[in-house]
Amino acid sequence: MNLDHIGIAVRNLAESVRAYAALVGADPAAVHTTEVPQEKVRIAELRLGGVEIELMEPLAEDSPISGFLDKRGEGIHHLCYRVEDAEALFTSLRANGVRTLSDEVRRVRGYAYFFVHPKDACGVLTEFKQPLEPSNDG
Ligand code: CO
Repeated sequence: MNLDHIGIAVRNLAESVRAYAALVGADPAAVHTTEVPQEKVRIAELRLGGVEIELMEPLAEDSPISGFLDKRGEGIHHLCYRVEDAEALFTSLRANGVRTLSDEVRRVRGYAYFFVHPKDACGVLTEFKQPLEPSNDG
């Protein structure tokens, strides 16, 4: 299991990409930006070595990121680990009483993923994601 990305909640994605890219010496033009309507967020990914920094801006007032920003302000939102079998991990964690944010593994953008509640992860919202073969992307 490897760290895949660190999610950071921001209010203004364009401003944050410029500022953060300058901070870590990344080329803002190489930053990949995409919308994830299922999670009501727009994200920008800055690759640093083997880890990505995922800046996340809410797309709607009822986005989970809007709630986070209102309550906590900008900052680290979640850590994500890359796994080989998200379904198997989901099943075994739930069998051990670990609380997840969804009742099933979700699929989007070529990934299967789920989140573990911060109360069962040392206070840190924790995501697990498994890259899917393009043919399995649903
Ligand atoms: Co994430």
